[in-house]
Amino acid sequence: MYKYILLLTAISFFGFAQNPLYSKLESQMDYALREASIYAIPKGEKIYPRTVRNDSLILVGSKDWCSGFFGGELWYLYELTGNKKWAAQAENFTLPLEKEKMNAGTHDMGFKLFTGFGNGLRITQNPAYRDILIQAARTNIKRFNPNTGVIRSWDHSRDKWVNPTIIDNMMNLELLFWAFKETKDSAFYKVAVSHANTTMKNHFRPDFSSYHVIDYDPNTGKVLKKNTHQGAAHESSWARGQAWALYGYTMCYRETGKKEYLHLAENIAQYLLKHPRMPQDLVPFWDYDDPKIPHAPRDASAAALMASAFYDLATLQPYKKVYYQNYADQILRSLSSPAYLAPVASAHGMLLFHSTGGLPNGFEIDAPIVYADYYFLEALVRQKNKK
Ligand code: GLY
Repeated sequence: MYKYILLLTAISFFGFAQNPLYSKLESQMDYALREASIYAIPKGEKIYPRTVRNDSLILVGSKDWCSGFFGGELWYLYELTGNKKWAAQAENFTLPLEKEKMNAGTHDMGFKLFTGFGNGLRITQNPAYRDILIQAARTNIKRFNPNTGVIRSWDHSRDKWVNPTIIDNMMNLELLFWAFKETKDSAFYKVAVSHANTTMKNHFRPDFSSYHVIDYDPNTGKVLKKNTHQGAAHESSWARGQAWALYGYTMCYRETGKKEYLHLAENIAQYLLKHPRMPQDLVPFWDYDDPKIPHAPRDASAAALMASAFYDLATLQPYKKVYYQNYADQILRSLSSPAYLAPVASAHGMLLFHSTGGLPNGFEIDAPIVYADYYFLEALVRQKNKK
C-alpha cells in the first residue's frame, strides 16, 4: 500500500499522469510558438497568430479583433497543465496588447483584452492587469448610445449601416460585468444590461435563432435593418452567430441572475440541439441554412463555443447539469478526434481544422482559426473543473 501511494505521488509529481490530449496540445503549442517567431521577424508588430492561408501562418497586429486569443490560449494551457513555461509565454503575448485599452474605434474590447489580461488576472492576480482592464471597460462604454440602448459594433461599412450592432457584441459584455464588480461603478452594469435587453428584443426570431446585424437609427433607436454580414442570407442562421448568442446569454445570466437571460440561453440551446441540420458530431455547418448542406464547410469555432457555453450552462441549471455536460463532452470528443484536431507539427501549430470565418466575403473558409482554438481550450478547462 505504502509503495502504491509513493508511486502515485511520483507519477503526479513528474507529470506522467497527464492527460495525453494535454501533452499533445503542449507539443502543438510549442510548434505554434516556433512558427509564430519565424513568421513575425519581418513583420514588426504583427505577432499574433490568426489563421493559416495558402500554407502560411497569418499573423495580425494588436488592433485586429483576434489579437488577444493566442495569449488567452497560453493562459488556458498553463491552467490545464500547470507548466510555468506557458504562463511566461502567455505574458509575452498579453502585455503588448495594453495599448488597445484606449482604442475606442472598436467594440471588440473583450475579445482583445479579456482573453489575455482577463485570464491572466484570474490566474495570477497581477494588479496591473486589473487597471488595464478597468480602463478598457471605460473606453468600451464610450460606444454606448442611450438612444439605441446598445453599444455600436462597427464603424466600417457606413454605406450599408448607420449604427450596426452584431450578435457577437454580446461577448464583450463580460468585461463590463467584471468592471462593475471590481469598481462598483453602476455605469458598466447599466450599459451591459441595456445592451443585453435591447439585443434580446431585436436580434431574435420567434424560433430563437438570431440575426447577425441589427442597424439602429442613432437618434430614435428604431430598427432600420435586420441583416447579415458573414451568414448565407439575411434570414439565415449563421452558425457562429448562434453560438455567440448562446454563450453571451449564458454568461449574462451567470453575471446578473436575471431569469430572462437563462430562458433565452436555454431556448437557443434547444434550437441548436434539435436543429434538423445539426450534424451527428455536433460540429455545425458554417450556416444552418446553406442550401449546399451537406456539401458545405463546417465551423469548428461554433462547436468549441457551444461546448464552452454548455459547461457554463450546466453550472447554472443544476437539474439539467448532466444533460448539458454530456453535450459539451460529446462536442469535445468530436473536436479532439483526428477529423478536427491537427496532428502535432502541422497547421503551423494551430489546434483545430475546419472553421469558417467569413464565407460570403471569401476569407477563412474551412481553415484553422485562432478563436476556435481559444474556446476549445477554454472548454477543456471547464471540462477539467466540472463537478
Ligand atoms: N466577431 C467576428 C466573427 O465572429 O467572425
